[in-house]
Amino acid sequence: MVDIKNTQMTFFDEEKAAFRPIHYLGSKLRILETISNIIDEIDPTFGRVYDIFSGSGTVSSYLGRKRPVTSVDIQEYSRVLTNAVLQPFYENELLEIKKKLLQYTVTNLQECIEPIIKYEEWALAKAYGKEIFDICELVEYGSLLPFLNNERENISDGLKKALEDTVNRLAGMNLIDSENSITTRYFGGTYFSFKQASELDNLLNMANSFEGRLKDIVVAATLSTASEIVNTVGKQFAQPLKAIDSKGKPKKSIVTKIIKDRNIDVYQTFEDQINKYFYLEKGNFNHISLCSNFSEALDNLTDDTRVVYADPPYTRYHYSRYYHVLETMSLRDNPEITMVKFHGKLKMSRGLYRTERHYSPFSIKSLSREAFQTLFSKVSQKKVSLILSYSPYNAEKESTPRVQTVSELLELAKQYFNKVELLSVEGIVHSKLNAVDKNFDIPTDAEILIICTEASQ
Ligand SMILES: C[S@@+](CC[C@H](N)C(=O)[O-])C[C@H]1O[C@@H](n2cnc3c(N)ncnc32)[C@H](O)[C@@H]1O
Repeated sequence: MVDIKNTQMTFFDEEKAAFRPIHYLGSKLRILETISNIIDEIDPTFGRVYDIFSGSGTVSSYLGRKRPVTSVDIQEYSRVLTNAVLQPFYENELLEIKKKLLQYTVTNLQECIEPIIKYEEWALAKAYGKEIFDICELVEYGSLLPFLNNERENISDGLKKALEDTVNRLAGMNLIDSENSITTRYFGGTYFSFKQASELDNLLNMANSFEGRLKDIVVAATLSTASEIVNTVGKQFAQPLKAIDSKGKPKKSIVTKIIKDRNIDVYQTFEDQINKYFYLEKGNFNHISLCSNFSEALDNLTDDTRVVYADPPYTRYHYSRYYHVLETMSLRDNPEITMVKFHGKLKMSRGLYRTERHYSPFSIKSLSREAFQTLFSKVSQKKVSLILSYSPYNAEKESTPRVQTVSELLELAKQYFNKVELLSVEGIVHSKLNAVDKNFDIPTDAEILIICTEASQ
């Protein structure tokens, strides 16, 4: 028998009560209290909770105040973020980071890329005077990787010269394929201004001078900074702004956004972010953060685990595409870039996506049922309770179709647990992506939680 409960979402002061390390699609920021209350009800002994699709780290951070948390996600950036929100961070360490930051105001990297930074400043200044072509050209065609791949024959002489001089200087200082210039080379011009990208690299280089927990905290605050300043619609990293239209005309409508985002001060934003990590309320428990597939993590659940909270992807969009920039900034591994055919020629994808990206079975129609089966069966075998977040499809609102229907999930859950309850938390509307096909389901706006207790296996 499936119980259907309804709860009005409890709104609370997000700033004080919760922390959002990055802007994240499907973040559970707004239902943290509900999730936490249910976990407390299921396990009043405050045992360990596994947050097995931890994403932005918001849920782990909230739950970690009261009980030990193991965070799991397939993306390295999520491991970094969760470690930073869960582990201690002392005042002398914060002061040391701030002091060290002063050494990174002008670096070799910035001296090398001076030609393109100067060009960018000139183009931005022209845009204030309503001459917008040069800044739009830089956003659309100014990134270094496609230029190095000889894909930029038709750009203006000014931009070409600035890029050539920059490349020569980078090569002269052994920074042309170094991890120390990765954000600048991969994402400068496209997602960030060159100045901002080089400052993000400076921060990552500074992080590298620390180890373990402290290194993760500095990288995490840098990722939070990147998420705040990125020059895209919706603060994701899947679609760079289209600044020049198909007829070669600059797009007036986005210039205000270009100017606004590219003027955000990286170091000031970093200081704000790192302060947030410092002032964050944390629980003094043995927290663990893992970069792992959910299935392997479930094979190794520790004996003190009482509850698994699972918030898997629910649309066909892959997180690895939306947040590839954060993954590359975390790994600094000089990844190959996905190539696409354009007018018969292979060119780098506009978004500069990594070729090695995780394709989640939860986002693939033909694989998702089996993935859910694995989830239900492995948790129930361990005799642990499961709380599954899912978001039903609302046909009227044309939200993005869900890979599984809620009724399919409930049927499956009942094969592994004797008690399955459906809780609908009202008032959540997820960021909309493009609607393509229809997948009719329980029509509601509500975020749902499927609560599985009394394992039957
Ligand atoms: C809906 S999001 C989780 C959001 C998170 N609860 C929050 O509040 O930020 C889903 C997450 O599942 C992760 N993921 C997808 N497939 C996975 C897999 N096979 N194993 C582990 N994590 C996976 C994605 O990287 C993504 O971060």
